[in-house]
Amino acid sequence: MPSFKTAFISAVLACLAHAKTIKITATSDSTFNPDSVEANENDVLEFYFEAKNHSVVAGDYRYPCSPLDLGTGFFSGFIPTDDGAADKIFRVTVNETEPIAFYSSQGNECAEGMVGIVNPSKNKTLNDYKERASELSKAVTPGRAIYGGKLIDSDDADSNDDDSQDSSKSDTDDSSDDDDNTAQSLQIPVFGLLGAIGLAHAIL
Ligand SMILES: *[C@@H]1O[C@H](CO)[C@@H](O)[C@H](O)[C@H]1NC(C)=O
Ligand SMILES: *[C@@H]1O[C@H](CO)[C@@H](O)[C@H](O)[C@H]1NC(C)=O
Ligand SMILES: *[C@@H]1O[C@H](CO)[C@@H](O)[C@H](O)[C@H]1NC(C)=O
Repeated sequence: MPSFKTAFISAVLACLAHAKTIKITATSDSTFNPDSVEANENDVLEFYFEAKNHSVVAGDYRYPCSPLDLGTGFFSGFIPTDDGAADKIFRVTVNETEPIAFYSSQGNECAEGMVGIVNPSKNKTLNDYKERASELSKAVTPGRAIYGGKLIDSDDADSNDDDSQDSSKSDTDDSSDDDDNTAQSLQIPVFGLLGAIGLAHAIL
């Protein structure tokens, strides 16, 4: 039987398990950066859009550049912007840990490699999806309406709280940028956790 103390600490841990925000940029080079991410349930994907006129669609892994069945997945609509980053961000809450492929449905961008994957597995990999996409010429846009997520103003984005100047930075330092975000979002739960364990020791 777990002691009260163990139960208390696990309860504290559960409360502090913090959904994270994962930033993905649809770049002006027509790629997603990063193009492969790991997400837990309740994590939030935030898609940023750079110049051109990209979209992001959750794809059926079996049929590259085609959307999931109606009623599942997500579609951002087309987000045209001339330069810099669009002031709209598409935010999607992850509901499952199964692999989710995604692509831009603009022109031949999907075939040219503008694809990505959330939680790739042994059987569902980015390279396999990308390779099969490259044999196609056109992507399917799933209608006109946005679904499966929300378009928000970039000022309201979680991952933008402390680096609002970052959206204008060049593509090349995006990876270090992501590390920063992860480190920052972990800080608060870790301090909260230490405090809570201290408290548990003090009162038990
Ligand atoms: C963006 O692309 C969509 C789909 O190709 C098109 O309908 C729309 O007119 C484009 N918007 C701009 C501003 O180019
Ligand atoms: C992965 O593929 C192998 C071989 O095709 C198959 O036996 C296995 O069931 C697959 N696993 C999943 C999780 O789909
Ligand atoms: C997650 O669930 C919500 C609410 O049921 C739904 O609106 C959304 O489309 C789902 N997200 C994905 C990525 O399927």
